Amino acid sequence: MEQLRVCVIGTGSISDMHFQSYVNNENAVLYGVYDYSKSRAEEKAKKYGVEKVFDSLEEVFADPDVDAVSICTWNNTHAELSIAALKNGKHVLVEKPLCMTVEEALRVEVAVNQSNKTFQVGFVRRFATNTKVLKSFIDQGKLGEIYYAKASCLRRLGNPGGWFADHERSGGGPLIDLGIHIIDICWYLMGRPKVKSISGNTYRQLGNRGNVENLRFYKAADYDQAKNTVEDLANALITFENGASLLVDVSFTLHAKKDEIQVKLYGTKGGAELEPELVLISEEYDTILNIHPQIDHLTFDFSNAFQNEIDSFIESCLLGTEPVAPVEDGVEIMKILAGIYEASEKKCEVRF
Ligand SMILES: NC(=O)c1ccc[n+]([C@@H]2O[C@H](COP(=O)([O-])OP(=O)(O)OC[C@H]3O[C@@H](n4cnc5c(N)ncnc54)[C@H](O)[C@@H]3O)[C@@H](O)[C@H]2O)c1
Repeated sequence: MEQLRVCVIGTGSISDMHFQSYVNNENAVLYGVYDYSKSRAEEKAKKYGVEKVFDSLEEVFADPDVDAVSICTWNNTHAELSIAALKNGKHVLVEKPLCMTVEEALRVEVAVNQSNKTFQVGFVRRFATNTKVLKSFIDQGKLGEIYYAKASCLRRLGNPGGWFADHERSGGGPLIDLGIHIIDICWYLMGRPKVKSISGNTYRQLGNRGNVENLRFYKAADYDQAKNTVEDLANALITFENGASLLVDVSFTLHAKKDEIQVKLYGTKGGAELEPELVLISEEYDTILNIHPQIDHLTFDFSNAFQNEIDSFIESCLLGTEPVAPVEDGVEIMKILAGIYEASEKKCEVRF
């Protein structure tokens, strides 16, 4: 197999997962890096042995030796970078969210369809071990028709600040940052049904709780307690054309006893919990069974999932196979997120 020469754009926190996974894959070469912050790009280039530190995006896109880009930048730049990369003949792996609005998502989709390049959205939870195991059971009909799913990702104190808390650059708070993962994973496992209607609420009641003392939480590099323009809680009921529904809630801050993550699916033949750990629920001979798969990773295995995601992207680029998370899925998820924000703003159900 030929090697894929990759440039990573945006060299902040999540880029490490991309760099390390490319290093581990013998079919990829880490060829270049670019970040607004040259010193940050240089630091990563040194750490991962990357050949070239670019001075501008134009240089990245003009370089014929760049085959593919990993876009790990602020959300407000995903659409423009994706489109420019595709127009310049590069394969693209873009971090979630695909972008910030449906209009942007549709423009990216047009650019993908006009190119003959691989385009993958960073829905990393699809590549986790527990997801893959559950998907194999679902594909064999173990759950029957999935008609209800319920997902929660609640942080009591976890607004990262910086660009995450700046609506202009993020497009929103916990919904677009955390909610996207759990909504996508439910939707993917439910068989990607078309959305029919959405009711939703967002709240800005607690702010970032930057006043809280003696409790650590992840803070973005340019954290500033005084700056926060995003919601702190969102919830929604999403109904699909096939009659199935998904109930979801997510927060950056909440008066909750502890942080919580739950992903649950209920079907006509069985149920499953993906998070906090994989369990299958079944009924046999008039008895209810909780089935505990014996696997190494019952919960989301962060670095394995990223490795699988990057391996799958490289394979799609080099062999032309369909990406596991194609642009159409990014568009559908963007419609759902935008629908929740719209339902909340208009204080009524949004119909598609
Ligand atoms: N898949 C996941 O689980 C996961 C986890 C965290 C973050 N993310 C996504 O990854 C992206 C980056 O998040 P992060 O936590 O690494 O943020 P970060 O703030 O740590 O890093 C972002 C970097 O991008 C650079 N940057 C921003 N726009 C740029 C542009 N147009 N050109 C060049 N450099 C640019 C910044 O200077 C910064 O160094 C976001 O879209 C986020 O949603 C995904």
